[in-house]
Amino acid sequence: MQDAIAYPEYQTMAAETLTIVDNRTGKKYELPIANGTIKALDLRQIKVSDDDFGLMTYDPAFMNTALCKSKVTFIDGDKGILRYRGYPIEQLAEKSNFLETAYLILYGELPTKSQYDEWVHNITTHTLIHENIKKLMDGFHYDAHPMGMIISTVAALSTFYTDAKHIHDPQSRRKQTFRLIGKMPTLAAFAFRHSLGRPYVYPDNNLGYTENFMSMLWKMTEPEYTANPVFAKALDVLFILHADHEQNCSANAMRGIGSSFVDPYSAIAGAAAALYGPLHGGANEAVLHMLDEVGSVANVPAFIKSVKEGNGRLMGFGHRVYKNYDPRAKVIKQLADEVFDVTGRNPKLDIALELERIALSDEYFIKRKLYPNVDFYSGLIYQAMGFPVEMFPVLFSIPRTAGWIAQWEEMLTDEEQKIARPRQVYLGYDTRDYVAMSKR
Ligand code: CMC
Repeated sequence: MQDAIAYPEYQTMAAETLTIVDNRTGKKYELPIANGTIKALDLRQIKVSDDDFGLMTYDPAFMNTALCKSKVTFIDGDKGILRYRGYPIEQLAEKSNFLETAYLILYGELPTKSQYDEWVHNITTHTLIHENIKKLMDGFHYDAHPMGMIISTVAALSTFYTDAKHIHDPQSRRKQTFRLIGKMPTLAAFAFRHSLGRPYVYPDNNLGYTENFMSMLWKMTEPEYTANPVFAKALDVLFILHADHEQNCSANAMRGIGSSFVDPYSAIAGAAAALYGPLHGGANEAVLHMLDEVGSVANVPAFIKSVKEGNGRLMGFGHRVYKNYDPRAKVIKQLADEVFDVTGRNPKLDIALELERIALSDEYFIKRKLYPNVDFYSGLIYQAMGFPVEMFPVLFSIPRTAGWIAQWEEMLTDEEQKIARPRQVYLGYDTRDYVAMSKR
């Protein structure tokens, strides 16, 4: 298995500069432009006053700040392009499988046959979890949200694998990678079985990654679980589509937490917590609730009107980066047809299609470039396959673990990275004296 790949070097010599003239002092500053950016630290030399610390940029929500240089995932939001390590998402969804794509994301190249076999073996032999983790799962209430269970149990894994704190040791990082990618489906399936009060099903090494996950979810008393091939393929493609998405909220959490050099299990727990929110990985759950609220195709125009009036959002629409149709949503829409051929049509699909039709021709959505994102149709497929809505973010977290680890690895091996520590614009009180309680 390869450790590092040779890439063309980033452009380090600035071919161009940006000239800033400070009108107050008449001073001129030449800031190098490299890779389409100026360095925020170069602004420090510009002082607003003599005792000023130096000019900062103010960028809530990182709307225009590149946090890192990355070679993992490329998105062109205007054109609706998504590529992992240069490979278009459409080609990977059609031709690859999740474990091969995870390898690509993590190690930068598609594996050779022997690299692939070794990789699959390493993942397959790291799927079991310690029996005490099972007991920890048992401690959750019967209606505990499975995402809360995942976040807690993945954090708990750090107490079982204390070697994981050796984050500067590539061999240790590799071992934790096998464990994390191997065990996430097991944790997810156990959380699901717990909610149903069913006995846990242990991993079956004879099955592929997705089929084994399905076996742990749905196997009853049969000696060996046989996965429906259409569902297994659909789940695998959904895993490919969700494997990474460059610097989103949870990847940023992974990098931020990881930058303190904590072990990867603790960092993944933080990233998974970021994913849990309804504006990120919880969005497909919110889409299903929204479709229930809309209730019927006839109610769609009234619902769109109410969204436009500022009463809530059209969930599964809009994206910070995509100002075009999310390429993942296109693949998922096709996938939905294949799954519905087996399960019968999800009646909510008609409501979703009508919402999309009206929204895409409505001035409000056109002006703001709001298109369906990955979550608009994925929930419908998951529901048709028998997943409760609470499992949706869990299903997102399984493949995204590969992306989180790739982002973490890249952050750790990037000499320019340090502990994440943003600045602030302090607008609170100046110093004032303590007032006794009797005088307030
Ligand atoms: N429905 C209605 N209006 C919207 C929506 C929406 N889904 N999304 C954005 N807008 C409006 C928003 O009100 C604002 O209008 P105005 O300029 O009049 O104030 C404008 O569009 C820009 O919105 P924003 O909140 O500044 O955009 P953002 O880049 O900060 O937010 C987003 C991106 C994904 C959080 C947002 O579009 C949203 O809340 N969508 C619904 C939740 C959702 O589907 N999330 C899944 C994201 S994809 C999966 C993932 O990456 O995890």
